[in-house]
Amino acid sequence: MLVLQYFSNETENYWKFGGRCIAKNNAGFDLFDKFVDMDFERIKEMLQLNMNTLTLLSYCFGKEMAKKGDGTIINVGSTASFQPLPHMSAYSASKAFVVSFSEALHKEMKPYGVNVLCVCPGTTKTAFLKEVGLEKDNDKRLISKIAHMVAMKPEDVARIVWEAYQKNKSFSIPGKLNNIQYSLLGLKIPTESFI
Ligand SMILES: NC(=O)c1ccc[n+]([C@@H]2O[C@H](COP(=O)([O-])OP(=O)(O)OC[C@H]3O[C@@H](n4cnc5c(N)ncnc54)[C@H](OP(=O)(O)O)[C@@H]3O)[C@@H](O)[C@H]2O)c1
Repeated sequence: MLVLQYFSNETENYWKFGGRCIAKNNAGFDLFDKFVDMDFERIKEMLQLNMNTLTLLSYCFGKEMAKKGDGTIINVGSTASFQPLPHMSAYSASKAFVVSFSEALHKEMKPYGVNVLCVCPGTTKTAFLKEVGLEKDNDKRLISKIAHMVAMKPEDVARIVWEAYQKNKSFSIPGKLNNIQYSLLGLKIPTESFI
């Protein structure tokens, strides 16, 4: 109840000053390892952030936006949403949740005048890569080489998301390569390259 009240005040502030309310569920992290070698507390933390927190924030902002008949919720998935990925099993499943949830929510919220945009970036040069142990120099694994070869600049991803927002789109995959991966049905990254 307190959380709902907090978001009610937050969204009210945006509208009071003539702004448009955008809720961007961007926070998320990945764990890259054999599932059984991971620390289960970290797995729980990741699932909590990537799915539960995103769902809670969509609920809190969505409720206020529906009342007002305005606003956009931006949920950040990943190209990892599109296929099960060994060594990222829980992460890719959590990101598949984001796509499925956002697509359904988009349909529900449309009659209220609220847009739900799901963005699925591919590898992007942020702290995220270091966090999952895909540093450039000392890593000879194929997955690390591919990651650094195709990684997009964060500012390019942000620009594409901004354009998608302005066009009221419901789904956006930044970058040509990522779009090719998505649209060529059956083209999945060889799962062996992750192991
Ligand atoms: N970079 C990629 O290759 C890539 C590819 C596909 C999808 N994505 C997705 O893009 C989104 C943004 O990632 P990024 O690339 O910008 O990575 P990033 O630079 O590492 O940023 C991650 C963000 O998540 C927040 N965060 C991490 N752990 C958290 C926790 N336990 N509780 C609350 N907040 C937490 C961080 O907050 P602090 O700064 O306070 O730590 C930071 O704002 C994520 O959802 C990620 O899954 C990234």
